[in-house]
Amino acid sequence: MSTEQWEDYLAANDARFVDELSDFLTYASISSLPEHTGAVADAAQWVADRLTQAGIENVSVLPTGGHPVVYGDWCHAPDKPTVLIYGHFDTQPVDPLALWTRPPFEPHIQDERIYARGASDDKGNMLIPILAVEALLETRRQLPLNIKFLFEGQEEIGSPQLPEVIDRERARLACDLVVSADGGQWAEGQPALHTSLRGLCALEIRLTGARSDLHSGSYGGAVLNPIQALCELLAELHDDRGRVTVEGFYDDVRPLDAHATERIRAVPFDADAFKAGIGVPALHGEADYTTYERLWTRPTLEINGIWGGFQGEGTKTVLPSLAHAKITCRLVADQDPERICRRVGDHLIAKAPAAVRIDVRPEASHAWPYQIAPDHPGNQAAAAVHRRIFGREPHIVGMGGSIPVCGIFLRTLDAYTVNFAFGLKDENVHAPDEFFRLSSFRLGQRAYVHLLDALSRSAF
Ligand code: BES
Ligand code: MN
Ligand code: MN
Repeated sequence: MSTEQWEDYLAANDARFVDELSDFLTYASISSLPEHTGAVADAAQWVADRLTQAGIENVSVLPTGGHPVVYGDWCHAPDKPTVLIYGHFDTQPVDPLALWTRPPFEPHIQDERIYARGASDDKGNMLIPILAVEALLETRRQLPLNIKFLFEGQEEIGSPQLPEVIDRERARLACDLVVSADGGQWAEGQPALHTSLRGLCALEIRLTGARSDLHSGSYGGAVLNPIQALCELLAELHDDRGRVTVEGFYDDVRPLDAHATERIRAVPFDADAFKAGIGVPALHGEADYTTYERLWTRPTLEINGIWGGFQGEGTKTVLPSLAHAKITCRLVADQDPERICRRVGDHLIAKAPAAVRIDVRPEASHAWPYQIAPDHPGNQAAAAVHRRIFGREPHIVGMGGSIPVCGIFLRTLDAYTVNFAFGLKDENVHAPDEFFRLSSFRLGQRAYVHLLDALSRSAF
């Protein structure tokens, strides 16, 4: 079978594309750290330049009041659908830095894997559709449909300014479908259609006892230790069946229908491999649910951090005055993040003992849970490409993580988001030694060309 010209173009430019990815990965675009704001802006400019180089028009870096967003389009297919391709060029922080084999922003290729912070999440993935589009524009001089690109620099901090930006730019961003180049595939050689993302809300709590730390001999036993109060408070947030005890927490959770249960049961699960993959001695979760049901269909409340008191070497006989914790909840349809945040905060305030003061600080940015039908035309197109490229039927799965903008796209642009990305679960995203497989990078480029062709024939 003779290859098409675009395939030859991708093959002929492979080394350049890998070099470009490597260059992109040198930007330390950590969105959560103020000292990296300039690097996020530089990465945005890199993306804008790369879009222009690919032949995309109307490229601009849009100000947001926070980290920027990059837009570009090619809209010369009047009777064809319009697809908006999404990704993010910001990254998570790198700590613990000591656990990295090499510096996180000095990309390094070994065994056909490129190692760097952001390699898989999401720079490697978001570059793929740009390269696919370049190959088409260079060889066919046109695209099979209208394409808009929207890349953001604030996904990893919850996309705080995106609701406002997408609302303001809704005419420019109007589309029939969003395709997300942030997300992933199931396993090497095994594709998946993703039908859900969980939502997220976050809060921080602080318990205060005495005006300052106290001598534990002079006062211990006579006043409540805020760390003890915090531990008791947090321990009560789950019952012995693994359910969150906050009143009303599950009120808006849509019950699982028989179809969804059946689809989840159809996905093979190997508990031993799952445990070994992450190094835990046993699995744990809400009673009466399977692991995939817990991950994809049930909300959670997690304590992400807890601190207070003496952390230094040796003993300090102190009764600390302060204790803190960070809490997030993963949410499922139809839970409202602000409402859940309020319920958790109110619960903690109500349950806190009178012997300490409690401050609850809800975080402003949050994400709505998101769902898309497995047979949505966008997913049907993706599945057709999966069959062709992987030679396999995709699993139908959910995603436990969150991409805040998907709910915003649905609400503001009335457009569903199809996941089309190539990261795999073992690529250490958010962790030391993050990497992306170059095989995925290459396969993704071909898959994107096929997806655009398939979507050009879809009816939305
Ligand atoms: N790409 C991930 C989301 C994701 C994770 C999708 C796992 C599929 C599987 C994204 O970059 C991410 O990390 N999102 C954050 C959002 C948060 C910071 C608001 C998350 O899920 O924690
Ligand atoms: Mn991501
Ligand atoms: Mn991420």
